[in-house]
Amino acid sequence: MSALLSVKELTAGYGGVPIIEAVNLDVAEHEISVIIGPNGAGKSTLLKTIFALTARSDGEVRFSGKDITGLRTAALVPLGIAMVPQSRNVFPTLTVEENLDVGTYAAPPPDKEAVRENVLTLFPDLRGKLDQAAGELSGGQRQMVAMGRALMSEPKLLLLDEPTAGLSPAYLEIIFDLLLDIRNRGVTILMVEQNAKQALRIADNGHVLVSGKNFISGTGEALLNDEAVRRSFLGGAAA
Ligand SMILES: Nc1ncnc2c1ncn2[C@@H]1O[C@H](COP(=O)(O)OP(=O)(O)OP(=O)(O)O)[C@@H](O)[C@H]1O
Ligand SMILES: [Mg+2]
Repeated sequence: MSALLSVKELTAGYGGVPIIEAVNLDVAEHEISVIIGPNGAGKSTLLKTIFALTARSDGEVRFSGKDITGLRTAALVPLGIAMVPQSRNVFPTLTVEENLDVGTYAAPPPDKEAVRENVLTLFPDLRGKLDQAAGELSGGQRQMVAMGRALMSEPKLLLLDEPTAGLSPAYLEIIFDLLLDIRNRGVTILMVEQNAKQALRIADNGHVLVSGKNFISGTGEALLNDEAVRRSFLGGAAA
């Protein structure tokens, strides 16, 4: 199958210092792909570089067969890419409804009400909270607002940076179930996760990033069963 997203030899960093170096990865349409790796490995930097939020110094990004290298973030959203950042991913003083609306600015959908209705069927908890300030919500609910905002642009590819960070195990399961729902609606997902074992269980493919380089890629199952990956990145225990 041809890749929806193809990252080739991507190198990027801050102030001229490379953080990710010559990273290669492909994400096929309709799959869930997970990036795992230690703190500081460059996982967020990789996602941000794909979404043109970090300066790329070398390499190429292709989306739907088109070279999107060098395009600005505002140009990527109308093509069908959206991102949920790792932290500070809602506008706390805006209402939930206003937060969702922000997701339509870069690529206004023809029927905003219908798109919002679709998003609210995924996140019914938000329906009664549309007029509440997002900053007043629980961590899990805020994560749903952030995901909902990204989905308001009806993306083909959703980039998620640690969607379950700081959430209880119960909420983690809720978010992972939602990700499966979102994928089943036809959205391709590339996410970074610290809850590596659980994430690889729902993932089609995984990539282990170490010191800015792609250490190994494989199916979720292959990585869960890989001795070196288990020992170094999954706490050692059997999958
Ligand atoms: N805006 C920035 N300016 C300068 N250096 C940065 C910036 N953001 C990140 N870095 C550096 O880049 C390196 C990789 O950071 P990054 O956030 O990509 O790692 P990560 O794998 O997402 O880590 P974590 O698991 O903790 O989220 C770190 O050494 C970090 O200090
Ligand atoms: Mg990070």
